[in-house]
Amino acid sequence: MAKVEVNAIDYFGHFATALQNGGALIVSLDESGKPNPMTIGWGLLGIGWGLPVCLVLVRPSRYTYSCLEVTGDFTCNIPYPELSRQALICGTRSGRDTDKFAECGFTPLPSVTINSPGIAQCGLIMECKVVQKNDLVPEHFAPKILESSYANGDFHRAYYGEVLRTVADEDFAERFSI
Ligand SMILES: Cc1cc2nc3c(=O)[nH]c(=O)nc-3n(C[C@H](O)[C@H](O)[C@H](O)COP(=O)(O)O)c2cc1C
Repeated sequence: MAKVEVNAIDYFGHFATALQNGGALIVSLDESGKPNPMTIGWGLLGIGWGLPVCLVLVRPSRYTYSCLEVTGDFTCNIPYPELSRQALICGTRSGRDTDKFAECGFTPLPSVTINSPGIAQCGLIMECKVVQKNDLVPEHFAPKILESSYANGDFHRAYYGEVLRTVADEDFAERFSI
């Protein structure tokens, strides 16, 4: 299926739906240039500094964290519901010891504006360049979030990716209902 350029802002709802139903997939490159997909359940898509921004939260324990530090960019991919098995693999296995692209049968799709590739099998791909990152501050959390999400520390680093280019399958909206 051919992919066409679209406006990320038109797909807020699709991104949120993906996050709530098995997750979206971010891809970054490791030091050797190997692309590594990781499932995210938390993320934000909006406007910051007058730019379209995709914010992802990555714990330091993830291999993806070291990849993002090396690459400084990532793609954010919305998988179709039928890719739920692959989303689970990308959310439970680490790129430290697994080639998740091969394991999932994914095909890397070269990006135009950044180094990290997209996942050809996913319906929508945002090419994101990190324009800001910051570590979440433990003292600034509401107690209920500290209890529910940080019993073991491992506080996320927030990566703000400017969405430089977005492509989607021509029939994405029909195949991915929100
Ligand atoms: C549905 C789902 C959502 C997840 N969301 C996040 C997330 O938003 N941030 C994060 O750091 N880890 C998240 N994880 C955990 C990582 O995807 C998981 O630890 C993964 O194996 C890390 O891969 P890596 O070591 O190759 O980076 C999620 C896992 C699942 C299954």
